[in-house]
This record gives sequence, C-alpha cells and structure tokens, in this order.
Amino acid sequence: MNWMLKLQERVSGLAPWDAKMITDEWFRAHFDYAADVVHHWIGGVLDVRKATFLNFGCGDGITDLSLVLRYGATAIHGVDIRREYAKLPRIAREQLGMSRIPSALTFETIKPSSSLAGRRPLVDGIMSWSTFEHVQRDQLAPILADLHACLKPGGYFFIQIEPLFYSPYGSHLRRYDEMPWHHLLATEDELWKIIHEHAGPIDASEVDFGFADFGPDGYKRFVFKEYQALNRLTADELVGFALGAGFRVERQERRNVEMDVPTTLLERYPREWLVNNEIFLLLRKD
Ligand SMILES: C[S@@+](CC[C@H](N)C(=O)[O-])C[C@H]1O[C@@H](n2cnc3c(N)ncnc32)[C@H](O)[C@@H]1O
Repeated sequence: MNWMLKLQERVSGLAPWDAKMITDEWFRAHFDYAADVVHHWIGGVLDVRKATFLNFGCGDGITDLSLVLRYGATAIHGVDIRREYAKLPRIAREQLGMSRIPSALTFETIKPSSSLAGRRPLVDGIMSWSTFEHVQRDQLAPILADLHACLKPGGYFFIQIEPLFYSPYGSHLRRYDEMPWHHLLATEDELWKIIHEHAGPIDASEVDFGFADFGPDGYKRFVFKEYQALNRLTADELVGFALGAGFRVERQERRNVEMDVPTTLLERYPREWLVNNEIFLLLRKD
C-alpha cells in the first residue's frame, strides 16, 4: 500500500507534525539525539535527501522517522528481528500528532540469520544504532558480509555501539543497577537479585515502548535475558569483523569514561576495554 501513501503525499504533502508535543524521553532521545548523531556521521559523506538507506536493527523506527522529518531523508528501509516498528504509527500520533507515517519509510521483519543481499536494490548507506552488541557472535561475520553485499560500491555504513560490554554499564542494566562494572564483579544470581528486587521508577530515557507490553516484571526478565545474550564485542573486535567483511574504515571515534577502575578488574581485562564505552564507526565499501 506504499504507492497509495506516496500518491497521497504527492497531493497533500507529509502529514503535519509538531515536536512540541513530545513527552516521552525515549522518543526524544531517538528523535533528537540519535538522529542528530546518525546525520552528523552519514550526512557528511552522503546526500541524505537523495540517498537510499538500510537501517539494520531499526527497533521502533523513531530515528528513521526523524531522519525523514528533520533531515529530509527520502528512502529508509528498516529491518529488525522484532516488530517494534509496528508501533511507530501510534507513537508518531501520540508524540508528534502525526496522522500517517511518511512513505519514505518501509520496514521488514527478518530472521536473525537470513540474507538480505540480492532481495532489494543496493543502497547508498546503511546505519545501525545500538544493535551490533546484540547480534549473536557467530552471526557477526556473515551479517557484515551480507550488509557489505547490500551496499553500492562507494557506499557508507555507520555503526554505533553504546555501552560496550566491558565498560562500567556495559551490561545494559543501569536502569536497575547503578554500580559501575557490577556485571564483571558479581555473579549472575547476584545481578538478577538486584534487578528482581528493584522498586521504584527507572530512567525514562531508557524505557522503550516495549515496556508496556511486558509490564514491570516481564520487562526485568526481558532486559536480563538481553544482558545474557550480549556478544561482549570490543571496539577492536568490531573493527576487525568489519575489515574481514571487506569494508574500509573511513573514520572512527571511541569514547572513554573517566572513572577509577577497580584494581581487580585491571588484573583481568585490558584497561582500554574497561573504559571504552562507545564507538562510532564509519565504514566504506570501495
Ligand atoms: C537496543 S535495540 C536498538 C534498536 C534501535 N536501533 C534503537 O536505537 O532504538 C537492538 C535491536 O537490534 C535488533 N537485533 C538484534 N539482533 C538482530 C539481528 N540479527 N538482525 C537484526 N536486528 C537485530 C533487536 O531486535 C533490537 O531491535
């Protein structure tokens, strides 16, 4: 039905929207911050208005919506193994007063190991935000090779990961546990006990739109399982996998925390792993 939407947009333009309506902090963090960062990196090398994009691990699609509305992107195809993007029309209505999602956005549910290459026209750019730390380790190489094959020669791929596993809050459990590096110091049982017993509000910018589906206890179980499934990728490993898939590194930035690292951890892990909490990686296919 995308052609009908396109026709409607040609006649009456994009549905009106109003960022002053935003009340949800998760929405704001993606609509403003994530979209700004993606645009900063990819907008410097591609004309966002003309380029075609694939978003790998698009989640609820809020960042993609912002790239269309705030930066004029005209073609973003979001893929994910979950269907959170199906909530986007409702979310956009509630947070922006927008009655229909732009036709520039399309979404697809994929199987974790299914290949995307050859099924759609090659794209100019790929982006992936906070996703590669969740991909099963044995799928990293085939997925990156597949994404390389989805990209036009001369195309770019922007990857962001935060928090990286060995960093203070690399467990992704900070919403329940503020103790830095606790996941590297405590047993799984000890960690689960803290989460299980957590009461009270959690940081609104870390509560995604899936929370309502799970309820407070179900959400605790969900995020703990996500923690257990993290692939523990380091920045160097990510770069290694990308090079192995045939990409060239165009530019990268690694962000470190300035915190005192417990001595016991320095005896077990390299310091750079423990302090490096974020990587921005811009790759190119030659
Ligand atoms: C932390 S969420 C980030 C979602 C979105 N990028 C955002 O910023 O809100 C990680 C996403 O990666 C997706 N994911 C994990 N493994 C994947 C895979 N093999 N292929 C595609 N998506 C995957 C998850 O379903 C989830 O939506």
